Amino acid sequence: MSANNVKCRPFYSEWSAGFDSLFNDLVVDPIKSDRRSSDNEIFGYSADCIKADVLRWGRADFTKPHATNGHGPLSVKDKCLLYCYFNFRSHFHATKYIFSQFLEPDERITMIDIGAGPFTSYFSITEEFDSRHIHYIAVDRSPWMSGMGQKLQLEAKRRNIISPNAPPSLHTTNWNNGTLERGIGNGGSIIFNFSYFFANPSLNDRLIQDLATVILEIRKRHLIRRIFVSYADSPRSIAKTRYDKFIRSLGYNSACLKTHEVVFKNRLSFLHTRTTEFEYEFFELT
Ligand SMILES: C[S@@+](CC[C@H](N)C(=O)[O-])C[C@H]1O[C@@H](n2cnc3c(N)ncnc32)[C@H](O)[C@@H]1O
Repeated sequence: MSANNVKCRPFYSEWSAGFDSLFNDLVVDPIKSDRRSSDNEIFGYSADCIKADVLRWGRADFTKPHATNGHGPLSVKDKCLLYCYFNFRSHFHATKYIFSQFLEPDERITMIDIGAGPFTSYFSITEEFDSRHIHYIAVDRSPWMSGMGQKLQLEAKRRNIISPNAPPSLHTTNWNNGTLERGIGNGGSIIFNFSYFFANPSLNDRLIQDLATVILEIRKRHLIRRIFVSYADSPRSIAKTRYDKFIRSLGYNSACLKTHEVVFKNRLSFLHTRTTEFEYEFFELT
C-alpha cells in the first residue's frame, strides 16, 4: 500500500448514557409511539422515502411542511424530528471526532454554528468539554430546527447532562442582524462551525460571499482572539464545491479536506455499530 492509500484507523465514538436516554425520550420514543408509525413505517412513510423525499439527504427546507402523494402530510415539526432520528447521530459523532482532535480541554469557546439544526454540534462539544465554558450561537433559517435544539438543551440542563450553569444559547435565523457580535463571549477562542451545512439548496454565491464578509468583519474586530473554522460533510456531497468557494471568499487558495471514518452505536445498548465517513477541515483563521 502506498503512503497515500494508508487508511487511518476509524474513531470509535459513544455518547453518554445520559444523552442516550435524553435522545431516546425526546426523539426516538415520540417517533415510535406516534399513531402513524408501525413496524415498517414512520409517520406513515418508509425509511427510504423519508431519507430521499422528505429529508432530501439533509437538504430539505425545514421551514415548510411536506406531503408525498399517497401519504399523509408531515408538519415542519415532524420533519425536524425525522431529521434528528436519521441524521443527528452520525453528525454528532463526526463533529465529536473533530473537536476531540483539535481543541484543548478546558478551553473557553464561543461556537458560532452556521446551519445549526437541532444544535447537533453543541451537544457533541459539550459531551467532550465543560459546558460552562461554551458560549453557543445557533444560526438556522428554520426556527423549528432551533426550537428542537432548545428543547433538547433545556432537558439536558434539567437532567444535568450539561451543566445548569452553562451559558444560555442564542439563536437567530440569519448571520446578518448583529446577533453574532452581541453573542460572542468574553475571552477564549471563537469557532465558526459548518456541519453538513453547505449542500443546502438555499445557498448561492451571493450568500456564501456575504457569510465570508461577516466572518472577516468579526476577524477584524477580535484581532487578539484565536478564531477557527470547522467543517464536516459527506464526501459525496456538493457541499465541498460550495465550501471551497467560501474558503476562497475568506482569502485562502482552496479548502484542504481530509476524510475520516467514525464508528458508533445507534443506541448504547445495541451490539451492532454503524459507520459514517465524512470529510472535514479544521484550521485557524489568520
Ligand atoms: C443538514 S442540516 C445540518 C444541521 C446540523 N448542523 C447538523 O450537523 O446536524 C442543515 C441546516 O442548515 C439550515 N440552513 C440551510 N440554509 C440556511 C441558510 N441560508 N441560513 C441558515 N441556515 C440554513 C437548515 O435549516 C438546516 O437546519
